[in-house]
Amino acid sequence: MAQIIDGKQISLKLKADIKKKVEEMSTQPGLAVVLVGDDPASKIYVNSKERACEKAGFYSKKVLLDKNISQDKLIEQIKDLNQDPKIHGILVQMPLPDHLDEGLVIENINPNKDVDVFHPYNIGQLFLRKNLPPLNHLLAPCTPKGIMRLLQSIGIELEGKKAVVVGRSNLVGKPIATMLTAANATATICHSRTKNLAGETSQADILIAAVGLPEFIGQEMVKPGSVVIDVGINRTDDGLVGDVDFEAVKSVAGHITPVPGGVGPMTIACLLENTFILAGSSLETDK
Ligand code: GUN
Repeated sequence: MAQIIDGKQISLKLKADIKKKVEEMSTQPGLAVVLVGDDPASKIYVNSKERACEKAGFYSKKVLLDKNISQDKLIEQIKDLNQDPKIHGILVQMPLPDHLDEGLVIENINPNKDVDVFHPYNIGQLFLRKNLPPLNHLLAPCTPKGIMRLLQSIGIELEGKKAVVVGRSNLVGKPIATMLTAANATATICHSRTKNLAGETSQADILIAAVGLPEFIGQEMVKPGSVVIDVGINRTDDGLVGDVDFEAVKSVAGHITPVPGGVGPMTIACLLENTFILAGSSLETDK
């Protein structure tokens, strides 16, 4: 039976460490979260990000914009935040309404305030790295960074391990594969056109499920004793489920993350950590 990786607990510890450091800092880290429109799921995410900021002693600014805002007006708002000395991190909640160009919006965030690490300059910097610094010094997209912290929490040696990532998104699949490669794992990205997917996943020492399909990863796709990280958040009639069939897979995996309570809380904790790093300091939690 797999050991459950308690992302909630690990995120609480990380957030508590950040809060303590903030108390000792002369600068108060500031995060601006921009929400365009009224998508209910996005509203929930934005509110929990704001609450986490306040709890950690950060300055937080929520910018709520009409769903019909023009591209130019949105960029104007971002440029104002780029100039605001109290703001160290700017997050524009995705997805944006269809008439807005996400790429162009991201490119207008000052790369030094790009807390999501979505800007082409910053993602390029991450991809050019040959190895990774300690996570408390690393600016990387929040969800992949949270996954690296979960792997670190179980003390797994990544070097030489076979990691399979299911999903090739810019948000998760591509950056986590890059980070695992930099940590000397052998990373494979699988996706909807992969032939013999189960053949790939069942060889994985570390399996990252980031496809956005409810309970897509079944028991027969998982190598016994492996580490299974579930990035999925799928709303179904039976409630919130991940991309992994948790009940079936937990009887074969060595370690597994639950949904909720696995990757999700780590994403928010890493958002705080990235804001903290951008505010000009870093934590000394990785020894
Ligand atoms: N939408 C879903 N996840 C994320 C995220 O990590 N950052 C932003 N900006 N939008 C998201």
